[in-house]
Amino acid sequence: MKITIVGTGYVGLVTGTCLADVGHDVLCMDVDAEKIARLEAGEIPIYEPGLESMVQANVSAGRLSFTTDPAQAVAFGTMQFIAVGTPPDEDGSADLKYVLAVAETIGSHMNEYKVIVDKSTVPVGTADRVRETVAKTLEARGERLDFDVCSNPEFLKEGAAIEDFTHGARIVVGTESERVKGLMRECYAPYIRQQEKLMFMDVRAAELTKYAANAMLATKISFMNEIANLAERLGADVEQVRRGVGSDPRIGYQFIYPGCGYGGSCFPKDVQALARTAADVDYRAELLTAVESVNQRQKQTLFAKLRQAFDGDLAGKTIALWGLSFKPNTDDMRDAPSRTLMEALWDAGARVQAYDPEAMRECRRIYGERDDLVLVGDRIQAVKGADALVICTEWKEFRTLDFAWLKQQLAMPVVIDGRNLFEPDAVKAAGLLYFAVGRGDSL
Ligand code: UGA
Repeated sequence: MKITIVGTGYVGLVTGTCLADVGHDVLCMDVDAEKIARLEAGEIPIYEPGLESMVQANVSAGRLSFTTDPAQAVAFGTMQFIAVGTPPDEDGSADLKYVLAVAETIGSHMNEYKVIVDKSTVPVGTADRVRETVAKTLEARGERLDFDVCSNPEFLKEGAAIEDFTHGARIVVGTESERVKGLMRECYAPYIRQQEKLMFMDVRAAELTKYAANAMLATKISFMNEIANLAERLGADVEQVRRGVGSDPRIGYQFIYPGCGYGGSCFPKDVQALARTAADVDYRAELLTAVESVNQRQKQTLFAKLRQAFDGDLAGKTIALWGLSFKPNTDDMRDAPSRTLMEALWDAGARVQAYDPEAMRECRRIYGERDDLVLVGDRIQAVKGADALVICTEWKEFRTLDFAWLKQQLAMPVVIDGRNLFEPDAVKAAGLLYFAVGRGDSL
């Protein structure tokens, strides 16, 4: 099958590569010529385990290629996946200008039947707008060509994107057209061992499914963070509570880890965009608004704990920071809790000495060179000469720690753990002041 993917960002590149890997002929198009040149050389612009070698193998096999030429891209595939970005507008709603520009490009260049597949996370009703845009563009050309638009949201987690694509819980396709159903079945056939995995539904239901799934997961996290904050004030250990509630299969263990708040390019943006969509149809989505505000507050808790530990005076202090990315196995720092913390520390006159296994280059790109940010080569150097340690991301390599050694390194024996990695009693036994999230000790 010949497939075109427009947009070689995270979603587009993973989708294109995984579809090429099962034998489809895939052409990925992007307007960014430098990115395309790097991809052609087998170099990928993002950090995603396993993706680079998969891109290289499929480029060598001739199944995966790249272009900046829109006419070539439109001519190539019967399936035209739109996987461009939908950055938030000022009011939090998703900005559709890139999606609609692609729709216009398809309308301007197509000469035969196409299925336009919305892969980007787009608000309910976008497929209708894509359809109108393509129709209008064709009309302006005086062409009457048949086409379909369907919604096929992605459910990829950064750091596990290939696994999620190849072994995802479901493949959602919003369409009423039998022709599209047939083509999508063919496209995803290698990934559908259980028939019920491929779920056909209405276009609007598919669009809403994507937002509802992310909002539900974000709700679980904010809910648990709320319980953690409460546990802290009540002298209860939220880790025991987590096990207690997670054992109920109706609740489950997944996504109920309390911490320093959720970040990334999806949850914050999607929860806000869904609340905005609700407002547009005059519905006050109180739960969604609360999920977001609980998360904003949670991202400030690390700084609040630190400030209290230092009696409000952080000026001139050096804070060691382990973990910059919003979660492990990615270099992504979008909306990361580490950023809220660092920015607050700088405002308070403190210095940050940070280490992250993957995100240091990204951190430098965001913040540039500055005196109050030192990026070091490993976690040991990060604590050298520091006053306190804060853990923002649960990278595997942070999970073991010689507490007695750490006590000797820190000027003030303060450890703030935003991911609840250690047993409080063990840390405290080494003479450290340990503050995690919801583990009995309220500062
Ligand atoms: C999320 C969803 O999990 C994917 O299913 C979805 O496809 C994707 O958004 C998207 O819309 O593209 P992602 O943002 O990559 O994926 O990362 P997650 O693994 O979901 O983590 C999100 C945040 O929640 C992280 O900051 C993580 O630390 C936090 N989290 C997660 C918690 O604080 N507690 C938990 O129990 C789980």
